Amino acid sequence: MTSVAVGLSRDLAAKRVMRAEVQGYDIAVWRDENGGLHAWNNRCPHRGMRLSHGFVRDGHLACLYHGWHFRKDGGCAYIPAHPELEPPETISATVFSITENAGVIWVSATDTAKAPAEDGEWEPLRSLSFACPPEKVRHAIENTPFAGQLPERAASGHLTAGSTALLVHCAPLGDAETLAHLLVAAGTSLAGRKALSRWCETARESAEAGPA
Ligand code: FES
Repeated sequence: MTSVAVGLSRDLAAKRVMRAEVQGYDIAVWRDENGGLHAWNNRCPHRGMRLSHGFVRDGHLACLYHGWHFRKDGGCAYIPAHPELEPPETISATVFSITENAGVIWVSATDTAKAPAEDGEWEPLRSLSFACPPEKVRHAIENTPFAGQLPERAASGHLTAGSTALLVHCAPLGDAETLAHLLVAAGTSLAGRKALSRWCETARESAEAGPA
């Protein structure tokens, strides 16, 4: 699996940009006015400013520093200091593959982005950052009791605790942080979602308290 879950779809509205890390690449992820998603190397081709600081305008991602505009295919569309100039085709942001499925955004820096096939229907619960690597997050989640029971891992990969099911996608941020994206089985009650959300925070305390 070369694709990384970089965020929940609902957390990236139209015309917004966010920063992510995928397979060691710093990435700018943005959503255009029509809901389309884009993942680019987070470095402006002009002077290297992070494109995640930029803004979406007229279907382009514009760099905050000198305002160069880049089309959805990454090519430079407009240079404010030289408005009459047709930018050369060689000026282009590096574009990566991105997709979204079941409320999660997936990016690959090396391949075509693909979401894993999951059994059942899932809804986003929340994203949660952990100050520890993904292995510790997974260990804590599997060893923190929920409603008096340790979660069990189903053959298809999701966790169950009693009648509650949870899917966790972990994205490493550097060596010592993780962003975890949590989904629950579609139809989970509000009370169940709240309980799971609190349980995730308990698991985080446990993950972060363990030895480094
Ligand atoms: S660094 Fe991006 S436009 Fe200059």
